[in-house]
Amino acid sequence: MTILVTGGAGFIGSNFVLDWLRLHDEPVVNLDKLTYAGNRENLASLEGDARHHFVHGDIGDRALVERLLAEHRPRAVLHFAAESHVDRSIHGPEDFIQTNVVGTFRLLEAVRAYWTALPAAEQAAFRFLHVSTDEVFGSLGPHDPPFAETHRYEPNSPYSASKAASDHLVHAWHHTYGLPVITTNCSNNYGPYHFPEKLIPLMIVNALAGKPLPVYGDGQQVRDWLYVGDHCAAIRRVLQAGRVGETYNIGGHNERTNLDVVRTICRLLDALAPAPARGVCDVRSGAPVQRYEQLITFVTDRPGHDRRYAMDARKIERELDWRPAETFDSGLRKTVQWYLDHPDWVQRVQSGAYRAWVQRQYGQEALA
Ligand code: NAD
Ligand code: TYD
Repeated sequence: MTILVTGGAGFIGSNFVLDWLRLHDEPVVNLDKLTYAGNRENLASLEGDARHHFVHGDIGDRALVERLLAEHRPRAVLHFAAESHVDRSIHGPEDFIQTNVVGTFRLLEAVRAYWTALPAAEQAAFRFLHVSTDEVFGSLGPHDPPFAETHRYEPNSPYSASKAASDHLVHAWHHTYGLPVITTNCSNNYGPYHFPEKLIPLMIVNALAGKPLPVYGDGQQVRDWLYVGDHCAAIRRVLQAGRVGETYNIGGHNERTNLDVVRTICRLLDALAPAPARGVCDVRSGAPVQRYEQLITFVTDRPGHDRRYAMDARKIERELDWRPAETFDSGLRKTVQWYLDHPDWVQRVQSGAYRAWVQRQYGQEALA
């Protein structure tokens, strides 16, 4: 048996593939376009491993996807591939529509054709697992209950609107054609191989370089944080025992304000990699940094910034007995340590294109 993973060179996808092949012998076909967010180096430990078959290509390339399905005959497709960064979706929504909406549509069509032609037993066992986000539900007030699976879809950003559209397509392909789909909606992930455009890795790499830690607006926006390994475990469990046609919320019960998250990272770095011992200087003033919190800088807020996300994950806990293994403290400590242990990875992902993005998003001051 084989599974087909899309987007398996990105942050969550590569963690999923690495964990999967650590735990199973079942081969993985990994289809990834290698956009700026895809990085084959994440999968370097699988070099020469016959169980991992990497394919450089687009989920929207129907002929390619059809060929891969016919050749490898997977028992499941796990769909991670997406454009995933809200700020990039604000600057340029087109790629989000192309990959998240059109790409998912084409993938669904190729999978439907393949699935329709399968023998009955294989058809019954087949799964299309669609990896989605809590952001499709919109924004909560401070005292609202967390999002349940039944919460109305109210996406606010081009990113979340494109993910919501893809969720609807997946649902419709089940309802209309009987494709055996399951959708998961997860809260904010963090952990190894996280591209440093997102909050947690950006703060770690900027702090170590003495660069400003750009907090949008008042920093009081709330996110629910889940360690990426826990998300991957939840997806494995849903694949194994989730009910077809259902959606499952996945969350960490870790609501934190952004400012709180940034301060916690600074304190962890103070303990694990003290700035004075590393000779870190503030790139703006040249002054030695004593404590990383000195680098926190409030910057212009994100347009349409969602105030709060929170997940009610009781369904997956009750039905599938999944629970996160990491607390926010244990997961964040592991994550900070991973970045400290992988300076070469960090240096290599900060390419010219990365620097151009930082300049565009934060301007000269935050780039320093
Ligand atoms: P990411 O941006 O790190 O990785 C996305 C991967 O998809 C990259 O390897 C990229 O090269 C690939 N890709 C993009 N367009 C493609 C295309 N057209 N064809 C093939 N491959 C393509 O994203 P991530 O953070 O790993 O997120 C993975 C999935 O999980 C996404 O669907 C995202 O919406 C969802 N999700 C993410 C989070 C989070 O906190 N990061 C939370 C919940 C859900
Ligand atoms: P992000 O990691 O981009 O995830 P998402 O927008 O999908 O939740 O951002 C997490 C939170 O951190 C979000 O409220 C925006 C905020 N943020 C900052 O304050 N500064 C930054 O430089 C970034 C990238 C995000």
